[in-house]
Amino acid sequence: MSSSFDNVPAAVRIVEVGPRDGLQNEKVAIPTPQKIQFVQMLASAGLPVVEVTSFVSPRAIPQLSDADTVMSNITRLPGTAYPVLIPNIKGMQRALATGVRSIAVFTAASESFARHNINASIAESLANFRPVVALAQQEDIPVRGYISTVFGCPYEGAVDPQRVVAVAQELLAMGVQELSLGDTIGVATPRQVENVLDIVLAANDITREIVGVHFHDTRGTALANVLISLQMGITTIDAAAGGLGGCPYAPGASGNLATEDLLYMLHGMGIQTGVDLEKVVAATRYIAAYLGHTPTGKYYQAAVSSR
Ligand code: COA
Ligand code: ZN
Repeated sequence: MSSSFDNVPAAVRIVEVGPRDGLQNEKVAIPTPQKIQFVQMLASAGLPVVEVTSFVSPRAIPQLSDADTVMSNITRLPGTAYPVLIPNIKGMQRALATGVRSIAVFTAASESFARHNINASIAESLANFRPVVALAQQEDIPVRGYISTVFGCPYEGAVDPQRVVAVAQELLAMGVQELSLGDTIGVATPRQVENVLDIVLAANDITREIVGVHFHDTRGTALANVLISLQMGITTIDAAAGGLGGCPYAPGASGNLATEDLLYMLHGMGIQTGVDLEKVVAATRYIAAYLGHTPTGKYYQAAVSSR
């Protein structure tokens, strides 16, 4: 008997972005040792990829101005990847000095968002990444490419999926191995996700194995969007412990999909992740003490209120 879950993968790789995408958007300054501990707790929970921080301009993101210290002081587990966000060659040099072995570059599918976020056009941002990716290749460092505003832009509204395809193909052509398609402002709904993925996955050089999805739960549609992505065979999903964060240059973009909510749904569906859900709750609980507010993740809130 056929089921609507026939194409759903048996295992999913979760990319934990809480320490970076989460903490970059928090109002309070989290002390550096606590950031380090948070990263280590997430890795110990079994998350295969923990994005640690950004080597961006400290003026753009003061919350992550301690990137060098954080990255230099993490005790790394052998099977875990610890990528960092890199905007330009200056960031790459800083990262290499701390022993970074995995990086991500980031651009947008909409021009106005790129201008606000990285003070560059999409073409200029791609030009900035070329030497970064070349250096990464020399050093045998894998590169992920984030494309933000794939499903809508806070300044321009609708985004043409062909723009996403064009940016994705340019990233791959310069040597980026993996893509993350971001719903930066949390506006996507499942039929739109299906439509965009259909178009993107039909394009030359873009296979489902190299495409991850990155949903924000701003309007409560993140898990529904994950489900349709799974049904289309996507196996890499980004999430942030506790549902922390968003992007400071995307008005209203609060709240990544919470890692705990994602894990609860995946495990309930019999999909393997290798992650211990309760250990992620413990990591969120640890960092929550420094945030000044309760994390928004649903599973997290249910877990702490039933204790
Ligand atoms: N690390 C540290 N400092 C950096 C830097 C980096 N990676 N990149 C630039 N800077 C510094 C420059 O040295 C310069 O400092 P100075 O004025 O003291 O000489 C200053 O920042 C401006 O540099 P410039 O090259 O003109 O950059 P810009 O002002 O056009 O900013 C970015 C471009 C990309 C560096 C900046 O917009 C940025 O870091 N954005 C990140 C945004 C982000 O992370 N958003 C969240 C992701 S969703
Ligand atoms: Zn995000």
